[in-house]
Amino acid sequence: MTSGSTPPAALKGRILSGIQPTGNLHLGNYLGAIRNWSALQKDYECLFCIVDLHAITVWQEPKELIRATREVAAGYIASGIDPVANALFVQSHVPAHAQLAWVFNCVARLGWLNRMTQFKDKAGKNREAASAGLYVYPNLMAADILVYKATHVPVGEDQKQHLELARDIAQKFNNDYGVNLFPLPEPVIRGPGMRVMSLRDGSKKMSKSDPSEFSRLNMTDDADAIAGKVRKATTDPNPLPDSVEGLEGRAEAANLLNIYAALTDQTLEQAVAEQAGQQFSQFKAKLTDTAVTVLGPINAEMKRLMNDPAEIDAVLKRGADKANAIAEPVLAEVYQTVGFLPGIR
Ligand code: AMP
Ligand code: TRP
Repeated sequence: MTSGSTPPAALKGRILSGIQPTGNLHLGNYLGAIRNWSALQKDYECLFCIVDLHAITVWQEPKELIRATREVAAGYIASGIDPVANALFVQSHVPAHAQLAWVFNCVARLGWLNRMTQFKDKAGKNREAASAGLYVYPNLMAADILVYKATHVPVGEDQKQHLELARDIAQKFNNDYGVNLFPLPEPVIRGPGMRVMSLRDGSKKMSKSDPSEFSRLNMTDDADAIAGKVRKATTDPNPLPDSVEGLEGRAEAANLLNIYAALTDQTLEQAVAEQAGQQFSQFKAKLTDTAVTVLGPINAEMKRLMNDPAEIDAVLKRGADKANAIAEPVLAEVYQTVGFLPGIR
């Protein structure tokens, strides 16, 4: 990790990504995000952020927010993200995010924000009651990325529109001020976009906000919890098919096989061929063993870390120091560019 505004030349670029500390981390977060990030750390300079400023765009219980912030940090570390080689930090510990976000509030146009589908989804019917923060959420996300001049951003499908907006903001800032200050960050989507669906309903995404605990495997679930949830997972009466085409119209079977394939590092085709003709009871036993093998060490390490909050906090402090060292000079460059009188600090 360098403290300059460009990453070391041997690496492919600089990555920034973030997860909101809301609710429990689940298998979708692991397979769709954290595991991929862990694989990127050898090729990129990486900054991984826990975005608590984003979290409070909707109501968060303060005590629970603290717990969830440490849990996400523990999840990152337990999944193999090296906190020494990378910066692992909390968004609110690096003031430049919020400071740059204000500048971006003045760059982004209302028309751009009005097109954001996540705001429409999250605000629901009662838009008047949504927080102003929820509306400008994408400007803060652009600041998260651009305050490090990050070149690559690993995100799920659902965040691509926000990343487009970050590029539009970078471009407009550069054009308006006649500078080449910000790179246009690229999305990184590794392999086919992994979408883990609910264990109860194969047409819904596995999500922190699903009221049913049986809809998801949490990264902190122990072997008994995993076994119980897999046993209760919705299925259909037929044995597993012998081809991917045979999964047509069988969303739950497709989801369980997809999860199994991801956990065993196989393609869906390979997993289907391996399990062809099995009854769900046999397949579920195998899936449980596999999930326990993969998640077991992660959840044991997460538990260990959660029992030692001081260790987590020390990692986050070191991460914030590294992040601040990169972000502060970029913010200073922005302030100078827009014509803020140099302060006496
Ligand atoms: P969220 O839990 O919505 O804050 O998302 C955090 C990260 O996990 C994002 O990169 C999402 O794309 C990813 N993610 C969340 N849920 C799933 C899911 N069910 N399947 C795959 N990826 C997911
Ligand atoms: N909006 C992202 C999500 O809900 C989280 C996030 C905030 C993020 N800032 C980011 C992701 C910067 C990537 C880069 O998943």
